[in-house]
Amino acid sequence: MAKVDYDNPDMSQIKKAADILKRGGLVAFPTETVYGLGGNGLDASACRKIYEAKGRPSDNPLILHISDISQLDPIVSKIPEKAKVIMNKFWPGPLTIIFPKAECVPKEITGGFNTVAVRFPSHKIARLIIQEAGLPIAAPSANSSGKPSPTRASHVEFDLFGKIDMIVDGGATEVGLESTIIDVTNETPMLLRPGAITREMIEEVIGHIDVDPAVFSKPDKNLVPKAPGMKYTHYSPKASVILVKGDIEKVIEKINNLAENDEKQGVKVGIMATLQTKDKYSFGTVLDVGDRENPETIGSNLFKMLRKFDFLGVDVVYSEVFDEAGEGAAIMNRLNKAAGYNYINV
Ligand code: TXA
Ligand code: MG
Repeated sequence: MAKVDYDNPDMSQIKKAADILKRGGLVAFPTETVYGLGGNGLDASACRKIYEAKGRPSDNPLILHISDISQLDPIVSKIPEKAKVIMNKFWPGPLTIIFPKAECVPKEITGGFNTVAVRFPSHKIARLIIQEAGLPIAAPSANSSGKPSPTRASHVEFDLFGKIDMIVDGGATEVGLESTIIDVTNETPMLLRPGAITREMIEEVIGHIDVDPAVFSKPDKNLVPKAPGMKYTHYSPKASVILVKGDIEKVIEKINNLAENDEKQGVKVGIMATLQTKDKYSFGTVLDVGDRENPETIGSNLFKMLRKFDFLGVDVVYSEVFDEAGEGAAIMNRLNKAAGYNYINV
């Protein structure tokens, strides 16, 4: 584990990380969304190591990270006009774009697809490492497959210690939810995973986009998500998560009732509350996930709180739900997956 200061990064640690990547090793590093587990994206054997360290199914493709727009041309076979518009507007930043892939991209990283996912992160430490390595870096979120994505170096250490060559600790990540994914390989682009770059923000610059129906409904046999990663149980803590939906005062009352009953039966209860509601619960372990008035604080803390409930060993988590507008779409997408779409309506 190497601590690197965001404002004044120690270049000897950056170089060390880049050397490991160039030699085919694995380095976890911070990005503005979540921590990534990096390996040389053009080296099939490095990519296999990534799948092994995470315990990730091999049909789930990886994102290639670049630190300069000049790295894009060699890895894609076409850059559609609409892609150019969103690249100009949102890169560097928390947006992943799916392009038709170039020959040089190993199929080990694309899960056998003819497309490749590319992201140009804005995080200074991530960019320095990629730049120093001089390679496109394949980097899935640096968690064990199925766990919530890591937003702290300590989360990476908990999941992957001993399985990877280096962890660069650049502090807590800002966004806290994985990047937005948009597929531009068809005439009408399609949103595959909501994130901090919202549907509304994208439509403002390129007009209507489609949204993969699996983003907001429970995937089943007839509704297979286009991003394979979205079909796996993800973000799931050990506890069962139950979302309680309705008028907020009624939600609080319902959760208090449920928690009181559960505790009487010896069930350990966690409650995902907000700044506005945390003092209104009288049972269970109450965690404040953020400020309803500032949804980005909820996005930023969500995975940390899911991990914390695991750490505390609660059996059940009752969670409030959030407005799906703007970044709320990404928050509710992850929360729905954590809960397996398990709702109580009040
Ligand atoms: O914010 C992020 O995107 C983070 C940081 C580290 O950059 N990375 C990340 O990677 O979340 P990962 O591997 O956890 O999620 C990548 C998602 C998966 O759902 C995967 O199925 C999808 O992207 N994906 C990758 N390549 C794809 C492709 N060619 N077509 C469709 N989906 C793809
Ligand atoms: Mg992931």
